[in-house]
Amino acid sequence: MEQRYGVAIVGPGGIGGLVGGVLARAGHPVTFVARPESAARLNSDGLSVRSAVFGDFHVAVRAVTRLDERVDVCVLTVKATSLRQALAGVPLSALADGLVLPLLNGVEHLAGLRDRFPPAQVVAGAIRVESTRVGPGRIEHTSPFCRIDVGSETAPRERVEALAAQLSRAGLDTRVRDDEANLLWDKLAFLAPMALLTTHDGAPAGVVRTRRRADLEAVIGEVAAVARSAGAQADPVAILAMVDAVPEGMKSSMQRDAEAGRPIELDAIGGVVLRTARRHGVEAPVTARLVEDLRVRADQPPIPQQSRANRIER
Ligand SMILES: NC(=O)c1ccc[n+]([C@@H]2O[C@H](COP(=O)([O-])OP(=O)(O)OC[C@H]3O[C@@H](n4cnc5c(N)ncnc54)[C@H](OP(=O)(O)O)[C@@H]3O)[C@@H](O)[C@H]2O)c1
Repeated sequence: MEQRYGVAIVGPGGIGGLVGGVLARAGHPVTFVARPESAARLNSDGLSVRSAVFGDFHVAVRAVTRLDERVDVCVLTVKATSLRQALAGVPLSALADGLVLPLLNGVEHLAGLRDRFPPAQVVAGAIRVESTRVGPGRIEHTSPFCRIDVGSETAPRERVEALAAQLSRAGLDTRVRDDEANLLWDKLAFLAPMALLTTHDGAPAGVVRTRRRADLEAVIGEVAAVARSAGAQADPVAILAMVDAVPEGMKSSMQRDAEAGRPIELDAIGGVVLRTARRHGVEAPVTARLVEDLRVRADQPPIPQQSRANRIER
């Protein structure tokens, strides 16, 4: 390894455990920022990863409840619903001049992070993978791929490239993208229809794409139009082809959260589509109906007209 790269991983779940585990195995000093119980388990038992891509391995790791040393990059891997609380564990003094790389699904958290941290340190990220924390410190990576896209409108290009090079050298397939809007909306334009329909129907992709075909095509069209209004290039035909190509039994993480009675990332995945549609005068009636049904079922407050992400406090 050429250089040790100090890494903080905030949220040792399916994504954080996988990314942090791969980086720790490559020899980088990784500190997990976790809630007390998870931190204690990680410190005593370490982290085990089972993966068809990275193999099965175990690493000893360090976990804290509040970041206490300078890092080169702080990777945010909590759910959108926990982001605000989790950032309390990342004081500005500890981050120093390190980069912040959120891998959460969604779009609007970037604005909130740029309010809280110096914008020149904030890098947009998206991860394509299926990875689950099956127990404390036990990660199962089940997709035959794990791809990370990074890019930033505000951080210097050379720092983003250096970050991508470190992730790639550790084994994580990482690409630098030129356009942040495309990077984020590309992911959401596929994810939002899949998440909303599979959760609404309580059924995996294979069932939804037959039983709910009309709704699926409508939502894909609406979200793609919204993405284009936000400056991205979303092609509904290509997105539908991607949905048709996923394995029959594939479930979305929103669906798994709903089944387990956990909070769902409805605002970060569906609310953002409706807010962006409203802002740009795009019609999204089917998406609005699905989001409202899911909101009522999940007993969540009304979808705010303004992004909550902008209310991440210092
Ligand atoms: N999983 C996937 O395959 C996948 C794929 C692509 C994108 N994503 C996105 O990636 C993000 C993370 O998803 P995930 O599946 O990795 O979630 P997850 O497995 O639920 O992990 C979230 C982790 O955050 C921790 N956490 C919660 N509140 C915290 C706090 N206040 N301080 C520190 N840690 C806290 C939880 O810790 P505890 O142990 O204390 O509960 C948990 O370990 C989401 O936005 C998701 O949509 C996920």
